[in-house]
Amino acid sequence: MTKTDSYEALSHELAETIVKQLREKPNSCFGLPTGRTPLGCYGLLSQWSDMRVLDWSRARCFQLDEYIDPAERSMTFEHFLEQNLFKHTNLPEENRFNPRQCDDYDGLIQSCGGLDLTILGIGSNGHIAFNEPGTVRESWTHCLWLTESTREANKSYFGGQPRVPRQAITMGIETILQSDKLILIASGDKKRAILERAMLGPVSADVPASFLSLHPHVTIITDFDL
Ligand code: PGA
Repeated sequence: MTKTDSYEALSHELAETIVKQLREKPNSCFGLPTGRTPLGCYGLLSQWSDMRVLDWSRARCFQLDEYIDPAERSMTFEHFLEQNLFKHTNLPEENRFNPRQCDDYDGLIQSCGGLDLTILGIGSNGHIAFNEPGTVRESWTHCLWLTESTREANKSYFGGQPRVPRQAITMGIETILQSDKLILIASGDKKRAILERAMLGPVSADVPASFLSLHPHVTIITDFDL
C-alpha cells in the first residue's frame, strides 16, 4: 500500500506508474477507469502527452465499464476518456476498446495478450468497475442494473439522479483478477471506511473490492491512512 500526502501526490504516483509500464512495454494493454479519482493522473498524462514525451502508438486501452443507453453521447465513459486523456495522446482509435461495442470483450482482451495493468477506483458501496455488491468472483464481462447508491453518486454528471442510466456493462471480477497487475486508487476520507472493509474484512461478494486481496500484484494508492 502506498500512502501519499495529497491528491496531487496520489495522481503523480499513479501517472508515473503508468508511464513506467508504457516505457517498459510500449504495446501494453491497460484497463482504465473513469470517475473523479483518476482525473488528476489523466491531467498529468495529458500534459506529458501534449509535450510528446509519451508514445501511445502501440498501447491498447480497455475501458472498465460503460453505461447502457445514456441520453447523450457526452455522458458516456468513452467520451470521458476521450476528453480527459485520449485526445491528448497518439493512441490510435482502433486501440481504444469499449465493452459496449464488443460482443466478446474477454475474448478480445485475451486475443491482445491479456491486461498488463488495470487501474481501479472504489465505489462507496465497495464496487470495482461496475461490479456492484452481490457480484460473484466467477464473473466475466456482463450487463447489470446499477444500485441506487451508485446512481446517486454519479448524478452530478447527469443533472440529477433520475437521468442516470439504470443499466451498464462492466468487466467482471474474473476479468479484473486476470490482469497481470492491479492498482486501486482511493482519495478522501469518504473512501476510508469502505477501503478498510475491503482490505481488512472477509473476502465476499458483499464488498466486490475485497476480491482484490486474491490477486498477487495489487498496489493500493491512497491519500489517507488506513
Ligand atoms: P470516483 O468513482 O473516482 O468518482 O470516486 C469511483 C468508482 O465509483 O469506482
